[in-house]
Amino acid sequence: MSDHKLTNEVGAPVADNDCSLTVGARGPVALQDVWLLEKMAHFSREVIPERRMHAKGWGAYGNLKITNDISRYTKAKVLQPGKVTELFIRFSTVAGERGAADAERDIRGTAVKFYTEEGNWDLVGNNTPVFFLRDTQHFPGLNRAVKRDPRTGLRSAQNNWDFWTLLPESFYQRTITMSDRGIPKSFRHMDFFGEHTYSFYNSNNKRYWCKFHFLTQQGLAHLTNDEAAAVIANDRESHGRDLFESIERGNFPKWKMHVQIMTEEQAKKHYENPFDVTKIWRENEFPLISVGVLQLNRNPENFFAEVEQAAFNPAHVVPGIGFSPDKLLQGRLFAYGDAQRYRLGVNHNLIPVNKAHVPVSDSHRDGQMRTDGNYGRTPAYTPNSYNYWTAQPMNMEPPLDLEGSLYRFDPANDPTDDNFKAGGELYRSMSESEKQRLISNTAENISPVTKNIKYRHAVHCYLADEDYGKRMAAALGLDIARVRELSKHDNKGLIQATIKP
Ligand code: HEM
Repeated sequence: MSDHKLTNEVGAPVADNDCSLTVGARGPVALQDVWLLEKMAHFSREVIPERRMHAKGWGAYGNLKITNDISRYTKAKVLQPGKVTELFIRFSTVAGERGAADAERDIRGTAVKFYTEEGNWDLVGNNTPVFFLRDTQHFPGLNRAVKRDPRTGLRSAQNNWDFWTLLPESFYQRTITMSDRGIPKSFRHMDFFGEHTYSFYNSNNKRYWCKFHFLTQQGLAHLTNDEAAAVIANDRESHGRDLFESIERGNFPKWKMHVQIMTEEQAKKHYENPFDVTKIWRENEFPLISVGVLQLNRNPENFFAEVEQAAFNPAHVVPGIGFSPDKLLQGRLFAYGDAQRYRLGVNHNLIPVNKAHVPVSDSHRDGQMRTDGNYGRTPAYTPNSYNYWTAQPMNMEPPLDLEGSLYRFDPANDPTDDNFKAGGELYRSMSESEKQRLISNTAENISPVTKNIKYRHAVHCYLADEDYGKRMAAALGLDIARVRELSKHDNKGLIQATIKP
């Protein structure tokens, strides 16, 4: 193998890789050219399905070093002081397909796989602290709305804004996407977040709720629409190239890791649903606690093997880290493994980039592409009398008391639900030039859309902040008196009043 001499798929030498086997110099090709058959058959199967969303992405290896002591919150070994853990990260855009340009206005995916001594921990996040929606039922719709129209095959601003404005809980995320943060200069120049509320539990089995934040040490930097258009005209791979070349040059990007912590008691009394992924936890109430430093320092050797075949799954946690009642997180616990069993096959965790760095003893057997020894002659069943596949009860999470009826609750009926307050705070925290760009980016993005939908968005802006609403209405050429009038409706009333174009 090391001298790169060509062989067939089972190691026999290939004598000729240029000329097909023909009957006479000008004659037809013989079916007996088995090398040609093997080569073409493999080639035709080289494309695997792209990820349903986050199809365009780039990866790198690095490590997480823990510099602070948060052992009072979690017993996870990966988070203990001084610990250094290897990791693989994949950054992505969301809506674009595998060939899309990097510098598009979109949120960015940030999936990290920590190869911990207790198994893999995957933190599959984004570069925003919240998400567009809060019930898994809406997720297929989001993707269909931001991807291609079924008739035209084109991206459709109309579909996109219709969907977004029918879900007022998307307002904060909409504002971020239309702000400077909607086009980061590169992956290195953005913060990223776990978004959901997760849980920690410590060695006394006391639970805390937590959120993860990773703050860029390269400085936040963004592109305007014009700058991004110029970048895309010359380079569709600008983010991937920047990441790869920085690491090749030894300019290793870093992020400081922080957590926010909420006790179970605080969560019960919190003025908003702390498990609603469309809501932030305000940092003046739940301050950032420093944890450590994440650094990227090595590029993959092979894009397909390591980046395309990488599979991240929020269901992969380690002792000391757990989930929360966040409905969207709960939905994701199913969706990722399911997608990967389809995209890569049932044994995708045997692919080197996905494989844990500790021995795996899951007792699963067989299936396509089983490339290890398949647990040899060990018993295939549990329980058995031979001490194989014994559970590890010392790792049981603390019980979580729950109450209530089994029902399809609408979060909009929660009297504490406010979809606009935080978006208003975000708007007011912007400088004047940032506000101007937010308004003009939105106006440009929404310009092909019908007026009824523009009114819906302007009303949401108005409900968040009067100035935001007035300026949005002016930029979209809307009647501010009508915006004011419409803002008196509840959400159902607003939808009804703006249903017709
Ligand atoms: C219920 C809501 C969601 C569902 C059903 C869902 C589902 C999926 C699926 C099926 C994939 C493709 C997986 C694969 O083929 O390997 C994916 C990719 C991804 N999702 Fe989600 N997602 C949801 C919400 C979110 C949220 C809230 C975040 C961020 C906090 C997020 C971040 C990502 C990232 C970063 C990737 C790309 C992973 C990679 O680089 O391979 N998703 N999602």
